[in-house]
Formats: sequence, C-alpha cells, structure tokens
Amino acid sequence: MNWRIKPLDDILANAERRSLKRSLGGFQLTMMGVGAIIGTGIFVLTAEAAQKAGPGMMVSFIIAGFVCAVAALCYAELASMVPVSGSAYTYSYAVMGEVVAWVVGWALVLEYAVAASAVSVGWSNYFVGLMDRSLGISIPEEFTRGPYAGGVMNVPAATIALLVTSLLIVGTRESASVNAVLVAIKVAALTLFVFLALPVINGDNFEPFAPNGFWDATGLGIAGAAASIFFAYVGFDAVSTAAEETENPQRNIPIGLIGSLAICTIFYMLVAAGVIGSVGAQPVLDAAGRAISPGSPEFAAVCALPENAQAVACSREPLAFVLELLGWDKVSQLIGLAAFLALPSVILMMLFGQTRIFFVMARDGLLPAADTLTKVHPKFHTPYVVTIITGVAVTVFAAFFPVGVLADIANSGTLFAFMAVSVGVLILRVREPNRHRPFSTPAVWVVGPLALLGCGFLFFSLPPSTQLTFVYWSLAGLALYFLYGFRNSPLARSKK
Ligand code: ALA
Repeated sequence: MNWRIKPLDDILANAERRSLKRSLGGFQLTMMGVGAIIGTGIFVLTAEAAQKAGPGMMVSFIIAGFVCAVAALCYAELASMVPVSGSAYTYSYAVMGEVVAWVVGWALVLEYAVAASAVSVGWSNYFVGLMDRSLGISIPEEFTRGPYAGGVMNVPAATIALLVTSLLIVGTRESASVNAVLVAIKVAALTLFVFLALPVINGDNFEPFAPNGFWDATGLGIAGAAASIFFAYVGFDAVSTAAEETENPQRNIPIGLIGSLAICTIFYMLVAAGVIGSVGAQPVLDAAGRAISPGSPEFAAVCALPENAQAVACSREPLAFVLELLGWDKVSQLIGLAAFLALPSVILMMLFGQTRIFFVMARDGLLPAADTLTKVHPKFHTPYVVTIITGVAVTVFAAFFPVGVLADIANSGTLFAFMAVSVGVLILRVREPNRHRPFSTPAVWVVGPLALLGCGFLFFSLPPSTQLTFVYWSLAGLALYFLYGFRNSPLARSKK
C-alpha cells in the first residue's frame, strides 16, 4: 500500500509563508484560549451532564479537562512544526499519509461544522429564554426545537447560523479587542453565577453522588458525562495554532494551553458545584425508575411532566434557570444576555475553522469541483463558495437536531482527530528526531500515550448511537476518497 506521505518540507514550502510577528505572550494566549473555550458547553451542556452523571459531573469535568490538557500538549508540538492551515488534517498528511489525512480531515468536519451547529442551538436556548423573561415574548415551541422534542424546526438556531455565515462571507474576523470584551463578559457571567449559587449550597444535594455509576454502555454515568462535557473544552486548539505568532513558544505555548484549560476547569467545577449544591442536579427518571438519555423523544416526554418542571437536567438554559429558581430574576436575565452576546463568536470561530479545512482539502485535490470550492470572492477576498456550503449544512443541523446529540457527534470527530495527532507526534519523534521543534511536548512518551488512551476512553464512553454515526460518517468519507480523491490528488497524478 502506498501511503502517499506528503513531505513536511513540501508542505512548508508550498504554504503561503506569511511571516507573522512573534508578539503573543503567555497572558494573551491564555485569554485567547479562554475566549475560544467557554461557550455552549458550560452554559447549556451542564444540564446534559446532570442527566448523565448527577453530582458526579464534577469528576467528569476533571477527566475531560485532563484529557484535553495532554492532547493539547501533543497538538502544540505539531502545530509549531507545521504552522500552516488545515490543523490535524495537514499534520496527518505529513506524518501518516493521504488516506489517514483524509479520514482525519473528514472527522474534523464533525469537530468544526457540527460543533458550530451545537453552539447555534445552545445560543437559541438562551435567546428564547431571554426573549421570554425580559421582553415577555414567547416564541411558539414548534419553532424553537426540532422534531426530536415535538417541534418543527429551531428557527433562532438556524437564523444565527446563517447570520454568522454571512459575517464570514464579508470577511469578519474577530479582533483581539473584541475577544477581550467577550472573555470579560463570559467570565463575569460565570463569576456572578458562582457568587450567587455557592453561598446557598446544601450538602444533601450532592447525594447520591453518582446515581448512574461511572461507566455505562449506553453513554450514561460519570464517563459518559465526561465524554459529552469534553465539548466544553473544545477550542483550545486556537492556542496551539498560534505558535508561529508567539514569542518564546517553548515557554508560552504550554502557559497558554495549560493556563486557559486550568482557568476553565476551575470555573467549570465552581459552576457545577453551584448548580448541584443550590438546587440539586439528579437525573430525571422514566416510569421504570431508569435515567433516560438526554436528547431523545422519551426524555422530552419525561421532562414535560409537571413533577420535573424544576429539574436542572431538563433545562435548556441551566445557568439562567438555576438563578431564576433561586429568586434572582434580573441576574438570570443578565446571564442570558451574556450568552446571547458571547456565543456567536464561538460559532464564528468554528465555522471559520471548517471553511479553512475544506479549503485546504480542496486545494490538495481531495474534494471534487476544487476550482469552484476554492473560489475567492472578488470583493471580500473570502472563500465564499466553501463558506456558503458549510454555512447551509450547519444551519440545517442546527434547525433539526438537539444540542447534546450534536455536541456528542462533534466530540467523536474531535477525539478521533486528537488520537491521530498524538500518534503522529510519536511517529515523527522516531522518524525525524532532529527536525527543529519550536515547541516540543514535555515528557512526550508519557503525555502522547496518555492523550491517545484518554481520547480513546472518552470516545468509547460516548453513546453507542454517536459512535455508530461516526463509523458511518467515516465509511462515507472513505467511499468518497476512493471514488474521487485517491485518483485526483496531485500526489496520485505525480506518480503517473
Ligand atoms: N468549548 C466550546 C463551547 O463550549 C465549543 O461552546
């Protein structure tokens, strides 16, 4: 089998060699990471984690944060060696060859595009709540949820996805100052929540601590919640990919990565403790006394029962909901406003990442109609065709699917890509030990295998339906590769 490895030196030589100023320090990187990380995960999926793990979700946050930290350290080494677009896809092309790169690139579609849909749905939840609480406008439920919960389509989620797509087409990039403001808004919202919820903690609410156990084949339990809540940490690759613009990357990249992950983990733990301790976070049960997987029609039916009206696990905007239960109506609206303002930038970042990955894959000749896909808009100078296609797909998913299911699917792709990256780092250490590494992973022979095992563990803790979706998605991708990319990539043509 010819693995068609694209030599690293060719990749580096062909990339438009921007020479970027090394201006970022540890603090800016940390802020950048926090800006990319905090989003739908903590604002919305906390409810999902409550349903899966109950109070044990605190352990889930630690597990997911740890796996991200080790994976991030591996990611950073490759990102610093290959500072060009395409992230894990490009690294895999250089290390493991075209077919692996294709599968990784295909998995990244889940990481970025499906994640953008998930964040759009999370935004919609807060938007709907905010409209209701602050303006008294209640949007009919048919238009705020998909068919999985008795609705028709989620109109606000689809609208925000389309709006962000339009911004990307006209070339909007988030500036450092906008990021700083949004980070401040998110951190302020979470801090406010913690200050109001922690003082009214009741120790009894932490019992039973792990109602669904640690691991369960259906994706429930502490491990299942960790696999879902992993989503709350996704985005830290923004730091890894900034290696080229960082002064003293060997020192500052780990500060940025570990710093932003540590800050988020601490916030997440405090928020989780606040949710659990103040109002309780036990899963809702069906008539047979079993916890049901969130995002299913059965779950929606159980949540519609009057006795579950105050269950956090059923809330679509848990942080605002908890504060409302605690009697802080106005502050609850502020939290809603913070999510309303800050989440679109996470969608923007995800969609941006997706369009650039498609762009690079098309440029490599692996996607059909590459000439059309890579067209750049004459006025806005953006790859508008690829952006429109991605935006429409993201909109459709946001309109019809539940946030937790989308986040789980996004996680499956991300975990797979991170596994490829951790293997890639180790292979390259053996194959090219002397190549210059602006950042090298500390204790790589411990950190690399830990990242691989950790990501694998989380992958297999996802619900079986998510794992199956991932398998079908990858098979479809492989079929497309062998029907098209295999014959058409420049590497194939150069062999003829
Ligand atoms: N970590 C990002 C979020 O939670 C993707 O929205």
